[in-house]
Amino acid sequence: MSWAFEIDPADKSALYDELLKALDALTAGESDPIANMANAAALIWQYLPDLNWAGFYRAVGDELVLGPFQGKPACIRIAFGAGVCGTAAATRTAQCIADVHSFPGHIACDAASASELVVPILTEGRLLGVLDLDSPIVGRFDDQDVAGCTALMELLAPRIG
Ligand code: SME
Repeated sequence: MSWAFEIDPADKSALYDELLKALDALTAGESDPIANMANAAALIWQYLPDLNWAGFYRAVGDELVLGPFQGKPACIRIAFGAGVCGTAAATRTAQCIADVHSFPGHIACDAASASELVVPILTEGRLLGVLDLDSPIVGRFDDQDVAGCTALMELLAPRIG
């Protein structure tokens, strides 16, 4: 089985529409959380421009634990409330950070990271984990990325829960 998607990165709104359809096609009918997170990370990594890390941290007990991702090896465990990921998990709100070096407690896994978007993944009030995207470009992420990635995680949540 091979997957090829017609996705144009120039139009951000169209890009996220296409990504949503592609993620739906990749994960529909599959119930294995690792497989679905792995394909979601690979899809996002392939089609969202200017990323140096894309992947998941899973909520396990009272901390986040590294899940499927693309990019350099990363820190494995993050306490709720720590760094950008832990803040998104603790507050259950997306964190769109234009310059990570001005974020108190930012955890630098890859020195190349300059901006970061972290979206919490929730299903039926339960926190499953977070999607974490890093970019080497300051201010890489905007409201469209927040909305687009939130929609992607709303689709994915019941398929990894
Ligand atoms: N920078 C994140 C840690 C995870 S890595 O970027 C993959 C943070 O501050 O939570």
